[in-house]
Amino acid sequence: MYENLKTQNIDNIADFIDLRSDTVTKPDAQLREVMAAADVGDDVYGDDPNVNALQQEMADKLGKEAGLFLPSSTQSNLVAMLTHNARGDEILVGRKYHIFKYEAGGAAVLGGLTYDPLPVQEDGGLNPDDIHAAIKPDDTHFPNSKTLVLENTNSGQAISMERTKAAIDAGRAHNLNVHLDGARMFNACVKLGVDATTMADPFDSINICLSKGLGAPVGAVLVGSNDFIKQAQRWRKMLGGGMRQAGIIAAAGRFALHNYVDDLAEDHRRTKALADALNETGRYDVTYQDNQTNMLFVHFDKERAKKLGAHMRDHKIIVSAGTESRIVLHRNIDDNQLDQIISAFKSFNG
Ligand SMILES: Cc1ncc(COP(=O)(O)O)c(C=O)c1O
Repeated sequence: MYENLKTQNIDNIADFIDLRSDTVTKPDAQLREVMAAADVGDDVYGDDPNVNALQQEMADKLGKEAGLFLPSSTQSNLVAMLTHNARGDEILVGRKYHIFKYEAGGAAVLGGLTYDPLPVQEDGGLNPDDIHAAIKPDDTHFPNSKTLVLENTNSGQAISMERTKAAIDAGRAHNLNVHLDGARMFNACVKLGVDATTMADPFDSINICLSKGLGAPVGAVLVGSNDFIKQAQRWRKMLGGGMRQAGIIAAAGRFALHNYVDDLAEDHRRTKALADALNETGRYDVTYQDNQTNMLFVHFDKERAKKLGAHMRDHKIIVSAGTESRIVLHRNIDDNQLDQIISAFKSFNG
């Protein structure tokens, strides 16, 4: 997924429509105003009013006791793993979930933890039978199965509550902790019409990213019980994630949380419109499932992918042109730009 994402030789990237990820969103004028006016304090001393408010507001929204502001979702997930587990413990996680595949093995490297990567089903969820089968016996040969990690959305797919609960029930039957990498959980909530508290309820901890579809420049919030967050705070400090006048970025996160969640529906609408337009041409191999939110995937052979990348660049559009090109819509793309994207795809004859 991360191949072909790094920009090469584009000096004036601001002039391009960027479809590589929703992480590319830039803070708009409103967010910049809020950031400029933000009250700040030293958050390592617990003094920053915007950080404190963001943590509590996110916890309240998800029906949990407490929250912790972190610089990134990668660190938030890592802190969650270090808090839930002890050296020698094992994490059960989807094989293509971010924590396993794209976080540099942080929990193994820094926490002495092992992963058992499980098959991910068509809808992005895990199969309860695979979870039962992955639990290790209480025997000195094995690591101690301790935590189940789910991800929602996964590859832009919103995973239903039914599927989620079945996986969690399987984990709970073996006394596992359950963490949600909900970097894009609000996309799932909006798509499924499920409120955030209901979605978060069966989990012990949830990571929420502020700097993806929500459009804030930096940050993530980890939520859970008071005890869990107290321990998580120590891990965050140890990892160097304790920030000082972080209210400047937390204020943007608060504003996005209060004002931008509903806008995700627009990204989803535009993603479907793009999928329909590509399918109508009959020339693209598109993966867009019913539960897709703001991402679709287009499949090419290597040569054609390269040509598409060059063609889109000529039309001032950046795509991650690989054999599986992930196209991501986000709040910096409006209907006019969507039209430009569609017409660029239509004029590609490679
Ligand atoms: C599902 C998921 N979790 C976690 C992350 C990590 O976020 P970051 O790279 O901002 O740390 C990402 C990043 O794209 C993600 O897609």
